[in-house]
Amino acid sequence: MSESVKIIEVGPRDGLQNEKQPISVDTKVGLIERLVHAGVKHIEAASFVSPKWVPQMAGSPEVMQRVPRTAGVHYSALTPNLKGLEAAIAADCEEVAVFGAASETFSQRNINCSIRESLERFRSVIEVALDNKLRVRGYVSCVLGCPYEGNIAPEKVSDVALLLSEMGCHEISLGDTIGRGNPITTRRMLESCIRVVPASQLAGHYHDTYGMAIANIVASLELGLRTFDSSVSGLGGCPYATGASGNVATEDVAYLLHCMGYETGIDLPKLIQAGMCISSVLGRETSSRVARAMSSD
Ligand code: HMG
Ligand code: MG
Repeated sequence: MSESVKIIEVGPRDGLQNEKQPISVDTKVGLIERLVHAGVKHIEAASFVSPKWVPQMAGSPEVMQRVPRTAGVHYSALTPNLKGLEAAIAADCEEVAVFGAASETFSQRNINCSIRESLERFRSVIEVALDNKLRVRGYVSCVLGCPYEGNIAPEKVSDVALLLSEMGCHEISLGDTIGRGNPITTRRMLESCIRVVPASQLAGHYHDTYGMAIANIVASLELGLRTFDSSVSGLGGCPYATGASGNVATEDVAYLLHCMGYETGIDLPKLIQAGMCISSVLGRETSSRVARAMSSD
């Protein structure tokens, strides 16, 4: 049997959080239903953050109420603090994610506190989440560059990754928030992280601003990572990282992995349909190269 790679679909959260046009709960739930139909097993469906900071995620409780609770499908949601965690527990989330950064300025702009303060806050969020039998993911943003501070030293990333792992995060997602990485810098950053957290607990979360995300995934696979975050149709961007594009498209990641002999459980034609559908609702072309190629075949 071939080896499998876990794909975490972050389109309904990372993909949609920065959309300027209002997106209804119906549209979000419809997208999630199509993703499930395409065999996606891990979906970041919601974000329990302040609606003043990220208005697009305000409907998260309703989204979580209506997602298909299919066996084997796992949903997660962002929770920056205890208030967010309480909302996630009330909405029946089985996994939450705290999100820190390797850049001081980004931390301030994104969650209004320093890295040290954020880690203190996360410690209580993680404790309460684990007490309630939830799993916790830990994000580190700006691992390959910051929109405010430029280059980020790999050690800054691994320091935060280690602390989140020690606090109880089962997985650390390494975010190239602005898509500035390339295979060389990705490798350097990962080597530093793997010294303190096993590769099996690390996830690559690569935005595709410079078109390097697929190359960075290949570099990550070579170093033993087997979990990647991606966004159907390449949707998205971060509201606190101007100019950053969406995540690498899930269609492109699935295609790459299937070509390399890995299993993902994803039905690519159905995933492409899901991507085409949300792209048409948003009134734009898909950013997935694979979706474009396969739908013009
Ligand atoms: P703050 O203003 O310092 O918080 O924001 P506060 O505790 O002082 O509260 C201020 C107000 O927000 C209060 O309401 C709170 O009740 C409310 P008021 O009394 O003014 O009416 N509030 C909340 N409401 C709902 N849910 C909550 C919540 N917490 C407080 N959980 C805070 C601090 C963290 C809340 C804020 O900065 C925030 O929500 N930031 C979120 C930013 C965000 O979502 N960014 C995008 C996600 S990160 C990302 O995309 C990167 C990633 O993809 C990885 C990568 O690519 O690198 C993950
Ligand atoms: Mg992101």
